Amino acid sequence: MRVAVVGATGRTGSEVANEASDRGHEVVPLSRTPEGDQRDVADLPAVLADADALVDFTVPEATVEHAHVAAESGVPLVVGTTGFDDDQFGTLVDAADAVPVLKASNFAKGVQALRRVVRAGVAALPEYDVELIDTHHNGKRDAPSGTALTLLEDIDEARDEELDRTYGREGEHDRASDEVGVHVRRAGNVRGEHEVLLAGDDETLTLTHRAESRRVFAAGAVDAAERLAGRDPGFYDFSDVV
Ligand SMILES: NC(=O)c1ccc[n+]([C@@H]2O[C@H](COP(=O)([O-])OP(=O)(O)OC[C@H]3O[C@@H](n4cnc5c(N)ncnc54)[C@H](OP(=O)(O)O)[C@@H]3O)[C@@H](O)[C@H]2O)c1
Repeated sequence: MRVAVVGATGRTGSEVANEASDRGHEVVPLSRTPEGDQRDVADLPAVLADADALVDFTVPEATVEHAHVAAESGVPLVVGTTGFDDDQFGTLVDAADAVPVLKASNFAKGVQALRRVVRAGVAALPEYDVELIDTHHNGKRDAPSGTALTLLEDIDEARDEELDRTYGREGEHDRASDEVGVHVRRAGNVRGEHEVLLAGDDETLTLTHRAESRRVFAAGAVDAAERLAGRDPGFYDFSDVV
């Protein structure tokens, strides 16, 4: 496959380029400040004229532009970027009318398993308090993480109601039974850690996923790119294809 990677200079995009290359794919890395074999991101339409997939780990405002180009070029799009607002997300959904689009807030297979386990745990313990902790490196811009937001949706689904989000706590207040505490930590070079705490009287259940390297995200993204090729246009979930 010929795989174009935008954000190829970034922490995660560079790992995607390495992973795809290690699997024998022809990789076209793109950057705003190209060096070496990188192409200028302004060349994306020309690059996509002859590509089998585009993988994007950049920023939301750039990803929406790249999604337009992918749709116009008929190239499947894998989106790892997080932090979209509703309008930006709508642009990705629109692009899926023309090409297959797969967006995942977390490409680690362990997180896909965590989501299932969290849904099962929350459903099995309906009286228990739920708290979520998201820990990432100090360069992460969006908070809570895309993965944390996905886990919150999973918790709501398992509870069959939308729990009130309480972002951190300060001062005095009683904890309501229909709230979920959300705690965000940004420090050092932590790759990504998510913990869901379920607590009842006299017992706690802690479900944790920890990414030890960005290679797990890269592997999942390249899996997605490989399996998206040849699919019909549409909006795909990671669990649909991998
Ligand atoms: N889904 C997942 O599994 C997963 C895992 C990890 C990270 N992420 C998400 O992926 C995104 C990137 O994370 P990261 O840690 O790799 O960030 P990063 O190291 O800051 O890299 C971001 C990349 O985006 C490019 N970029 C920034 N603004 C751009 C623009 N306007 N146009 C084109 N390219 C632009 C930069 O490249 P140039 O400056 O060279 O153009 C840079 O290489 C974040 O949203 C993060 O939350 C998702």
